[in-house]
Amino acid sequence: MSKEQLIIFDTTLRDGEQSPGASMTKEEKVRIARQLERMRVNVIEAGFPAASNGDFEAVRLVAESISDSTVAALCRTSPNDISRALEAIKPAKSGRIHTFLATSPIHMEKKLRMSPADVIVAAENAVRIARNGIDDVEFSCEDAGRSELDFLCRIIEGVIKEGATTINIPDTVGYNVPEQFAERIHQLRTRIPNSDKVVWSVHCHNDLGLAVANSLAAVLAGARQVECTINGLGERAGNAALEEVVMAVRTRQDVFPCETRIDTTHIVPASKLVSSITGFPVQPNKAIVGANAFAHESGIHQDGVLKHRETYEIMRAEDVGWNANKLVLGKHSGRAAFKARLQELGITVDSEQILNAAFLRFKELADKKHEIFDEDLHALMSEEAIVPGDEQYRLVSSMFHSETGELPQARLTIAVRGVETIAASSGGGPVDATFKAIESIAASGAELLLYSVNAITTGTDAQGEVTVRLAKDGRIVNGQGADTDIIVASAKAYIHALNKLSSGKEKINPQL
Ligand code: KIV
Ligand code: ZN
Repeated sequence: MSKEQLIIFDTTLRDGEQSPGASMTKEEKVRIARQLERMRVNVIEAGFPAASNGDFEAVRLVAESISDSTVAALCRTSPNDISRALEAIKPAKSGRIHTFLATSPIHMEKKLRMSPADVIVAAENAVRIARNGIDDVEFSCEDAGRSELDFLCRIIEGVIKEGATTINIPDTVGYNVPEQFAERIHQLRTRIPNSDKVVWSVHCHNDLGLAVANSLAAVLAGARQVECTINGLGERAGNAALEEVVMAVRTRQDVFPCETRIDTTHIVPASKLVSSITGFPVQPNKAIVGANAFAHESGIHQDGVLKHRETYEIMRAEDVGWNANKLVLGKHSGRAAFKARLQELGITVDSEQILNAAFLRFKELADKKHEIFDEDLHALMSEEAIVPGDEQYRLVSSMFHSETGELPQARLTIAVRGVETIAASSGGGPVDATFKAIESIAASGAELLLYSVNAITTGTDAQGEVTVRLAKDGRIVNGQGADTDIIVASAKAYIHALNKLSSGKEKINPQL
């Protein structure tokens, strides 16, 4: 007998994007959305259209690009927010409106300054308006984890009468513990008379490190949708990690009365893609997707695994997509093969100009590094995200000098709106010298919030991928650069971030 389905609602592109510094361009959102669709995520929450024009356009583009997953848009309860969200998801084959209002005493009194009775009216109106535009409507009781049960019962019964199809119970501030959260779901499901008309959903934050545990406890209490993000990205300490929820349900089928439709072999590539686009590295000991998640160090463990894998492994690395980075292309590969592989990876290249520039860079890379993996292609295309000619700065060439007892020197040729200029500086180290040289031309005055280097693949010829996070005038952007030379990768990442700051492509602040 087949089991009930657990709906996986991914909010990497919305709640995940609310992590400071994780804002994404619309093209980046589409790349992640395509990977989520390949993974067979049921619902992709693409953004919050009323937040900005950029957010609206991103949701619309995701809605146009995705056909196998439902595309959801978040909105507050105001008619204007709802109509922006409806407009944004219009092109979607299957769309959902996700409207929310706070229900806890502290949020209603101090934030909304609304009476509980007015909150109920606003929620019911919102669901009614949304249902006039679309059949699939989710209502979230923000801060439900700290809301009074009786009040939750009243408001939820009301919005179900107005046609809500999914009821989401967020633990917005990550305050709950599993037993208590499960009991809350159980109480709501048994006390609300029309509770069987809807899918029950949970959305847990990780402030106490309990987001996944609370979500799974809720599933055992009857929730059939979990809202989660790749790598657990999200506000503050993040959301429940999709990979952990999915693999727990799959690995412990003896415990869970439901199953997901997720193709788990796409999990690790999704994790790497999100990490590369946002610049948020994955800690090595992170469950499922950390570099050490399947590595056995101690002799006793290694001996056990060699004799019988299941002595120390409850999952197979290949089932979650480790080693899925097939060797794809080499220096003899042609433009058609390059383009075809990008398409297979879900990367669409809008113009011949970008494709030609990317192919040239691919050839340069293939000369330095004989084996080109999918991760290399993702990194390469991240750098091509800004249309050539649209960019303020472009690195033309570079020279670095570093010698014991001497101050490191960097000398770069940078094209500023197409005009080549020499920039030179010394610094505390070669990266410092490089950034100072770039700033001697750009004079951006931006604050450097983060500098991180990761090897994209294995081996000493691997590309280093550098993330640079810059802040200026309340905007935070991430720049990425990849190269077999990490100083060059650093220069590219800094310039990428400066181009994002000057292109205005990214939103001022993706937060609510
Ligand atoms: O954490 C939260 O309460 C949310 C809602 C908007 C669902 O993100
Ligand atoms: Zn949230």
